[in-house]
Amino acid sequence: MRIHVVDHPLVSHKLTNLRDETTDSPTFRRLVDQLVTLLAYEATRDVRVGPVDIVTPVGPTSGVRLTDPQPLVVPILRAGLGMLDGMMRLLPTAEVGFLGMMRNEETLQASTYAERLPDDLSGRQCYVLDPMLATGGSLAHTCQLLLERGATGTIIVVCVLAAPEGIALLKANGLDLAIYTAAVDEHLNEHAFIVPGLGDAGDRQFGSPASSS
Ligand code: PRP
Repeated sequence: MRIHVVDHPLVSHKLTNLRDETTDSPTFRRLVDQLVTLLAYEATRDVRVGPVDIVTPVGPTSGVRLTDPQPLVVPILRAGLGMLDGMMRLLPTAEVGFLGMMRNEETLQASTYAERLPDDLSGRQCYVLDPMLATGGSLAHTCQLLLERGATGTIIVVCVLAAPEGIALLKANGLDLAIYTAAVDEHLNEHAFIVPGLGDAGDRQFGSPASSS
């Protein structure tokens, strides 16, 4: 398993504003969108391309284009939905699969409430989007579903923040992952929130489901 902390002053600047509790939802969503594009630039370094011959207005040359099957991008709802546009801006021909996953705040167990993935993922490069890697339960569950559909090779994960506890769990599970993140924070608190973190990425983007019901 590989962890890439994307070390770039623009990433750090945007992450600092995301962490700030005074950042409002519209600004938070815009910052997530911008951060993902910066992280995705690194995360797509090994995207599969093949040689093509083309003709420019001046003459023939060769280049590369993304090869089929096109990559699959999987945002984990809710919070990962805010990362989708930023990723698709870089990979506009990718296909998108959806997973809705919720962490029980008492047991911390992740469960799936929505799933729309291609039946056969063999030969596909999969990019999972989820802003927070806390205990790692949601990501481990996601990888399990992708592997059951035949995903092979390294699953690439783009997240905004990761906790050492979640990284340790995924390592212990022996998953073939490459994780691209803006930071690995200190630890999880007693509620399994990342410290110092940025709070609840889903609530900060979309509001609290509890307060709206
Ligand atoms: C959060 C976050 C991750 C998950 C991380 O989602 O967006 O999906 O928790 O936690 P874990 O690593 O301990 O599994 P949440 O369950 O709050 O749902 P939401 O996206 O709807 O807010």
